[in-house]
Amino acid sequence: MRAMIFGATGMVGQGVLRECLRDPQVTHVLAVGRRPTGVSHPKLAELVRRDFHDWSDTGEALAGYDACFFTLGVSAAGMSEADYTRTTYDLTLAAATTLARLNPGMTFIYVSGAGTDASERGRMMWARVKGRTENALLRLPFRAAYMFRPGMIEAVDGVRPSNALYRRSYAVLGPVIGLVRRLFPSQVVTTAEVGRAMLRVAREGYPRPVLERADIAAVARGSSVA
Ligand SMILES: NC(=O)c1ccc[n+]([C@@H]2O[C@H](COP(=O)([O-])OP(=O)(O)OC[C@H]3O[C@@H](n4cnc5c(N)ncnc54)[C@H](OP(=O)(O)O)[C@@H]3O)[C@@H](O)[C@H]2O)c1
Repeated sequence: MRAMIFGATGMVGQGVLRECLRDPQVTHVLAVGRRPTGVSHPKLAELVRRDFHDWSDTGEALAGYDACFFTLGVSAAGMSEADYTRTTYDLTLAAATTLARLNPGMTFIYVSGAGTDASERGRMMWARVKGRTENALLRLPFRAAYMFRPGMIEAVDGVRPSNALYRRSYAVLGPVIGLVRRLFPSQVVTTAEVGRAMLRVAREGYPRPVLERADIAAVARGSSVA
């Protein structure tokens, strides 16, 4: 499998990158980000760029991939709906539209979050914008697209959030999240489990396009995909 990861410097993306590099069936990984991952590995190539809204200059560099794991995202805290829409809906759709054109056989997996609002009309701004983003991604002509909606994620294997706000909160919440995962295993997954679930869904598919917390946990931990 040739895989591409957007946001591999982030908490979710670092976990996915690690699992891709460990997986013998993944032969090549392209990390697309605005800064290098700092990881060196024979399977890993990187595309570092500033503009994530216009992909007209990339030529065929993004062609020939079987899967894209789109873990790039921002916290909506303190953002206006217009700004959050630009870095969530606009940015994601600009990249995904280009990828769908160049890779009609691609499986595209997007990380949104528990509580995402597919009606696009609810009261929570972030949930509406993520819902609109999911719905638009599901209309693109990929071979398949899946929306991952994790809730709490426990960072393992030395993974840390990229965003300073998340990092500060995580320093306090990390041990609590670990405890919650042991108490409610279907509600909390680790960064490694998110990576393993994405790889499995990219390979085997899933009966529904949206995977909620319990689906992600079950797929990561080996339950059969119906
Ligand atoms: N962490 C969780 O517990 C959790 C739970 C549920 C859902 N999610 C969702 O998962 C996604 C990733 O979260 P995370 O925790 O991994 O966040 P994170 O640690 O802050 O990482 C975000 C990633 O997105 C990149 N990024 C952000 N804005 C960008 C921009 N304008 N242009 C290019 N790259 C940009 C970051 O690059 P830099 O490293 O260069 O900043 C980083 O690679 C988010 O959509 C989040 O809502 C996370």
